[in-house]
Amino acid sequence: MRVLGIMGSPRIKGNTDLLLDEALKGAQSQGAEVEKITVDKLKIAPCREYYGCLRDGNCVIRDDMDDIYPKLLNADSIIVASPMFFYGLTSQLKALIDRCQALWARKYILKQDFPSSVRKGAFIGVGATRGKKLFDGAILTVKIFFLSIDIRYVDELLVRGVDKREEIKEHPTALSDAFELGKRLAPK
Ligand SMILES: Cc1cc2nc3c(=O)[nH]c(=O)nc-3n(C[C@H](O)[C@H](O)[C@H](O)COP(=O)(O)O)c2cc1C
Repeated sequence: MRVLGIMGSPRIKGNTDLLLDEALKGAQSQGAEVEKITVDKLKIAPCREYYGCLRDGNCVIRDDMDDIYPKLLNADSIIVASPMFFYGLTSQLKALIDRCQALWARKYILKQDFPSSVRKGAFIGVGATRGKKLFDGAILTVKIFFLSIDIRYVDELLVRGVDKREEIKEHPTALSDAFELGKRLAPK
């Protein structure tokens, strides 16, 4: 069982990073092999709509996405984690997701088969405010992302009212909730 964590915040050891680390520890506690991608450390150009992917399912842009595509396809479960930036995912993470138009093309245009097992995905979101709709846009984006790479959206952890670096450590339940989410995603 391989669990891939995608860390969307530019703030290393910030709230998202700490939450994702706990979730991956939870998955590891169940025997899963885990890997974390920190999107901000990668060079990922935004999608340019060249649409080379419609021909053969491959993006024509050569950058760090070359290594990410196989990781996305080989994971049994994926956890996407992001702070809310203007009620959405960070632009670094959105660039990675947009570049998965190539995988969308494999599935929906070229009708290529994806890994046959049921693959599961979860979303961890964190934001400073307490707005009711704070995570609505991000959840929709993550759901559509998962759909296009043949992953079922099964779980989420949404944490409001957390702003400063490491403020998540003062939250009464968020870190243990993240650990439990990771455990649920990788049952023994
Ligand atoms: C550019 C930017 C935009 C933000 N937009 C929102 C927002 O729309 N809603 C919100 O609740 N918090 C917003 N925040 C606050 C972050 O979501 C919050 O500080 C979060 O805890 C940061 O998580 P991190 O430490 O993982 O980066 C924004 C922060 C930045 C830097």
